[in-house]
Amino acid sequence: KPRVLSGIQPTADSFHLGNYLGAVRNWVSLQETHECFYFIPDMHAITVAYDPKVLKQRTFIATAQLLALGVNLDESIIFPQSAVPEHAMLAWILNCQTGFGEASRMTQFKDKSSKQERTSVGLFTYPILQAADILLYQANAVPVGEDQRQHLELTRDLAIRMNNTYKRVFTVPEPHILKETATIKDLGDPERKMSKSNSTKNGLIELRDEPARIRKKIRSAVTDTGSEVTYDPENKPGVSNLLVIYSALADKSLQQLEADYAGKGYGDLKKDLGEVVADFCEPIAKSTQEYLSDQAELQRVLDSGAQRAREVASTTLARVYDRVGFFPPV
Ligand code: TYM
Repeated sequence: KPRVLSGIQPTADSFHLGNYLGAVRNWVSLQETHECFYFIPDMHAITVAYDPKVLKQRTFIATAQLLALGVNLDESIIFPQSAVPEHAMLAWILNCQTGFGEASRMTQFKDKSSKQERTSVGLFTYPILQAADILLYQANAVPVGEDQRQHLELTRDLAIRMNNTYKRVFTVPEPHILKETATIKDLGDPERKMSKSNSTKNGLIELRDEPARIRKKIRSAVTDTGSEVTYDPENKPGVSNLLVIYSALADKSLQQLEADYAGKGYGDLKKDLGEVVADFCEPIAKSTQEYLSDQAELQRVLDSGAQRAREVASTTLARVYDRVGFFPPV
């Protein structure tokens, strides 16, 4: 089976709708055809200011939420990045293969560093650690949202460079980005992506939000001039974003939705979408809570995931260490 790897940061008490529609939904569907490695990049989470008291708890929450959303442990593993030291070890080698200028071109670094009081070197080398995450597992495909595309390109460049320098050591991975939901927009400002760290007041929907809050946020979503419910991302970014969310959650095509709302207005669309999103989130939130109530079980899930991950990661790293001219760890 081809292999899939992806990660989601433990930087909040819940995933948001963008995380789900852009990435995790795809993690779930790829399980049928792929061997899947899913992990919680807690080492990435400390590249910006964070609270050590909640980091582990958020890793448990993310794990519970992945299980609630349909990650199936018969087909996939879930593990915390920090439990697999090979990530940091390979990242060092890749650091030494990455040009300073090349790393300086990462737009997410420019974005994030401009919002930090102090910028760590870890934030700068973040994409190189991400490359290590992917290459350690010889992943064929990496399901992510559009905002990760540039990091995936760097990963591919590094894989090709390493393969040329050290003979074939890595599979060159392909990004797996769903076209329509590649970037879910902020509900209050459809010019920017929905994002935990940079959202308008009602612009972000968390999967653990109360149903009433979800309905309210969708009711207050910014729409566009005109009154027809049509998919037109150029001229109607707000309405189009709502239609994309609707289409993905209700499994209806955009054309079908346009037909359903012919002669109706934005208000009707928002009212119905509020129900659709609330109905989707409520059972997921409940199931997340159930998984969270048994932390010992979540710990077992992460332990056995990390054990399996290390088998694969240490095999790759041993080969790389040998080619590089390093001594194996004792
Ligand atoms: P993170 O934790 O920010 O986001 C997790 C996933 O959600 C996607 N996403 C979105 N998709 C569509 N619309 C949005 N508004 C939206 N917001 C977030 C992200 O693209 C991502 O797929 N650097 C990664 C974590 C990571 C990783 C990896 C991913 C670390 N190592 C190795 C893949 C492979 C990140 O910060 O994702």
